[in-house]
Amino acid sequence: MIDDKTAEKFARYMKKYPDLYQNLADIVKKYVTNAKPVIIDLGVGPGLLSQELHTQIPNATIIGVDPNKKMLSLAQQNACFDTFEARLGSSENIPVDDDSADIVVSRFSLTYWKDQKKSFSEMFRVLKEDGCVILEVINKDFPVWRLFLIKVHMLFNKAGADVTKYHIDVYKDAYTIDQVEQFFFNAGFSVVEKEGNRKEWKFLIVGKKK
Ligand SMILES: C[S@@+](CC[C@H](N)C(=O)[O-])C[C@H]1O[C@@H](n2cnc3c(N)ncnc32)[C@H](O)[C@@H]1O
Repeated sequence: MIDDKTAEKFARYMKKYPDLYQNLADIVKKYVTNAKPVIIDLGVGPGLLSQELHTQIPNATIIGVDPNKKMLSLAQQNACFDTFEARLGSSENIPVDDDSADIVVSRFSLTYWKDQKKSFSEMFRVLKEDGCVILEVINKDFPVWRLFLIKVHMLFNKAGADVTKYHIDVYKDAYTIDQVEQFFFNAGFSVVEKEGNRKEWKFLIVGKKK
């Protein structure tokens, strides 16, 4: 698990890239069908996505879940609005009632999950009928030589060695879009959107609880 200092540095570095969170929040907004949606930000990290979701969907209740206490305390600082709640938990044990959430969104957390089968069935459990899981995921098909360019970019932009290592090391645990689609199917979801190609470092995939 990431140590406290690296978590703080990660939060500082990611604040330089608000557009990454804005773009994902735009996509989440597209899937909102309820006037007061309940959205779970799974692997909430420092809460930057939750804050952006609040800006774009102010009526939403947002539950940020993470197994890392330091990340949760950063999330409480960064996502400072009344309808945000930080809960200690994980993808394998989501601390949310059955059939209670409209959307689960997770940005760059999947590769850290220990048990994909359990995680996908947990997401299925907490979602209401027709609820969606929106995942932004590191792409296993991304070429290694281009990964080196990302490393150089991060170091050049003062991410620091620890944050760069945290980001780059996880590519070894990455999945292809086909593998993630299979996780969805195995848990009973249908896949309603896929975006990204082999050359990109990330992809987006959306599953719906039928
Ligand atoms: C790269 S960070 C991304 C944080 C945030 N989603 C963002 O994009 O800024 C990955 C996050 O996943 C969390 N994480 C690790 N294992 C997890 C698990 N099993 N379930 C949920 N979150 C997990 C980490 O603690 C960390 O906060």
